Amino acid sequence: MDLRVQHASVTDIDTPLLVVNLFEGVSQPQGATGAVDQALSGQISQLIADGEITGEPATITVIHTNGSTGHTGLKAKRVAVVGLGKSTDSEQERFEHARVAAATAARKARDLKVDSFATVVHAAGAGGLPLDTAARATMEASILALYRYQHFKEATRLPDPVTSCTIVEADPERAAQLERYAQVAQVTCEAVMKVRDLSVGPGNYVTPTYLADTAREVANKHGLEIIVWGKDELKAHGMNAILAVNAGSVQPPAFVAMKYTATGATKTLAVVGKGITFDSGGISIKPAESMEYMRHDMTGAATVIGFMDLAAATKLPVNVLGVFAATENLPSGSSYKPGDVFKAYNGKTMEIVNTDAEGRVILSDSLAYAAEQMPDAIIDFATLTGACQVALGDHATGLMSNNQELADRVLAAGERSGDRCWQLPLWKVYGEQIKTAMADVRNTGGRRAGAITAALFLKEFVGDIPWVHLDIAGTAYADSDQTYVAPYNPKPGATGVGVRLLWHFCQDWR
Ligand code: BES
Ligand code: MN
Ligand code: ZN
Repeated sequence: MDLRVQHASVTDIDTPLLVVNLFEGVSQPQGATGAVDQALSGQISQLIADGEITGEPATITVIHTNGSTGHTGLKAKRVAVVGLGKSTDSEQERFEHARVAAATAARKARDLKVDSFATVVHAAGAGGLPLDTAARATMEASILALYRYQHFKEATRLPDPVTSCTIVEADPERAAQLERYAQVAQVTCEAVMKVRDLSVGPGNYVTPTYLADTAREVANKHGLEIIVWGKDELKAHGMNAILAVNAGSVQPPAFVAMKYTATGATKTLAVVGKGITFDSGGISIKPAESMEYMRHDMTGAATVIGFMDLAAATKLPVNVLGVFAATENLPSGSSYKPGDVFKAYNGKTMEIVNTDAEGRVILSDSLAYAAEQMPDAIIDFATLTGACQVALGDHATGLMSNNQELADRVLAAGERSGDRCWQLPLWKVYGEQIKTAMADVRNTGGRRAGAITAALFLKEFVGDIPWVHLDIAGTAYADSDQTYVAPYNPKPGATGVGVRLLWHFCQDWR
């Protein structure tokens, strides 16, 4: 879908669907909604008085303006009023409600089978959200709400009915700003949707080799440095942890490191991702129920690929090193087993207690490699623990860190981007749970504090580099059969979480 900005008054826009908005509790709309209400001879305020339009989040009311009513003051054929929640809600909540409003409107446009729609920027009126925040919310959610994954719908593929969305702004200066935001929003959403495509793609299609090929494509597109290692190189470099998880699979593993070099940058960020293209649990096999979701277990690696693409496309002011290891985790006669001991890339040894705790195993080599490059910070993304999904549900990514200043920056970027994070402690005492007589560390710490003990395992491999671990087990996908789904995260449910978080983090990290 094409995003456009038009400098015009809302009443002058010729469109099949014009979207305006309303906060809860407002009986006489002002601004753009007020202007439309006037052109409709008070039809909106009447519907508010009748209780049909409430302003509640995720609500939408469509008014047909042509034909019988014969309004002349308005060029739009239909008007939709979306709810923004309460104007007294926190900025965070108003931002989220703006995203939900935009997504609700875009989906309505699709349902109405109109080929285009126009919308005001949501929640940016007097005393509202800053224009850039509100614009991003409106633009990104409009695009992301209409995402579909049709790769394997050979017989039933649907054309995209909505081909353009026009942002209407009456003020010339603000319209000019919106033009710039629209360009960023468009490339950002392309990166997010690339992550969604990879994340949701079936395990027999998105293999480790496929991920490596996709990384190569991105590198070639932007002229980035890239290394791709297979089994032989992994052996030669002592990446025994990745090889251990790969041992039960007939799909070759891939280790990828790629670098975007910014002109005049002083800092380097390493982004590391978990790339398990299917997680059966291995010898410690998972129950069959919901196992198909474990095709998403490479979302961290997808985030790395999508973000490298975005970093280069938007010429971010920091260097970015992207690292991931990709493999399946399957049971077979050659699989790694509970009780096995392996030595990782940095020389530390680990005892395997549960082969289903494989993410931290492949991340050990990946993080140690990233740390060796001496970046200024490491941020890793991993669908790491069911414990984190249970603790925070679908709406917050678990954040754990060895450096509070870095953690605070990532938390702040989470608020600005909408990819919200919530911190869990890495107190030393939790480390008792991953001690073992057999090796330097063991790969599980029991049921209690599972997200934290997983992170403490990872901490063994980052050395002194400031590091943030993001457990996206709950936020990587949202399936409407299982969870609450925000309208900007349509089926089949991959969210593309993390790309926008990183982009915002890099904006003011100097
Ligand atoms: N990929 C899973 C974690 C996961 C679970 C992600 C649910 C998304 C949704 C991970 O590899 C895993 O199996 N973790 C185990 C660890 C345990 C064996 C210590 C878990 O969380 O049960
Ligand atoms: Mn697992
Ligand atoms: Zn896993």
